[in-house]
Amino acid sequence: MWRFVQISDPHLGSTTDGHWNNGFVGTMMPGVMRCLRRDLREIRPEFILATGDLADGSSRDTVFAGRDLIDWLGFPYYPMGGNHDFSVEESRRWFREAYHARLPGGRTYYSFTRHGLHFAVLDPLWLWRNNSLMPVPEPNTKTVAAPGEERGRWALPVEQLAWLDADLRVHEGQPAIVACHYPAIGIPERMRRPNMADAGCLENGGDLIAVLRSHPNVRAVFSGHLHMNIIEVVEGVTHVITSALPEYPTEYREVAVHEDRLVVTTRGLSDPSFAARSLIEGKEWTAGEAQDRSATIPLT
Ligand SMILES: [Fe+2]
Ligand SMILES: [Fe+2]
Repeated sequence: MWRFVQISDPHLGSTTDGHWNNGFVGTMMPGVMRCLRRDLREIRPEFILATGDLADGSSRDTVFAGRDLIDWLGFPYYPMGGNHDFSVEESRRWFREAYHARLPGGRTYYSFTRHGLHFAVLDPLWLWRNNSLMPVPEPNTKTVAAPGEERGRWALPVEQLAWLDADLRVHEGQPAIVACHYPAIGIPERMRRPNMADAGCLENGGDLIAVLRSHPNVRAVFSGHLHMNIIEVVEGVTHVITSALPEYPTEYREVAVHEDRLVVTTRGLSDPSFAARSLIEGKEWTAGEAQDRSATIPLT
């Protein structure tokens, strides 16, 4: 048995404290990272899967400062970008430069294999109103939109879906995991609340699910972006969507990899004061129900 952990949406370098569904406390992240660094020493993961919104991507300095903090956790990791990482024209270049040593092939979408478990990491693009897919947001699109406001949209280009299909075909003899900042599925009805903030999912998540349908070796999809914990099984694939570190419940996932199964456990920080600072009473539901907090995923 070996372990990896998934952390999501640390939004490093964000100096604003605001609200999403709970308080979004960007300024507590240096303390959160110190606590996480200590806590991960107990778990001893082989690597961290960092599912996007890693830093404020609007300047080269914040991208590199975020990278330095993730380096400082002291474990190998696989980064991927989110809407906050890729918010300006230079963002992907800065991201590739900052994470050069971590990105297989130096690319923002890539695959790798650990102990026979294959991982494919995706990098969707911004979907403009004219339906073109672009590396940058459309002018006047808000990176963060309030409920009811028009927000960004994202989708996977057909070339990337074809790359994924080919990559999974090469590795069809191995169990596989897909990771992508944006979930392939929306927030399930059972979790919806009036006036909840919904960051949205992949516009063509159905196309991704269609690719996975022809690759039954894909057992799970790990995502973030929604800032809440959700686990849903769709067509035999377990979709694990994980909360954001600056926002209640400030949790991450520990994944124990056994010969025949993955065991996903949700972990909070050993210092509960960070979660308490973010929580707005009555909004505990972003932590998810029991089914959103642990899962056993068969690998065979
Ligand atoms: Fe985020
Ligand atoms: Fe996001």
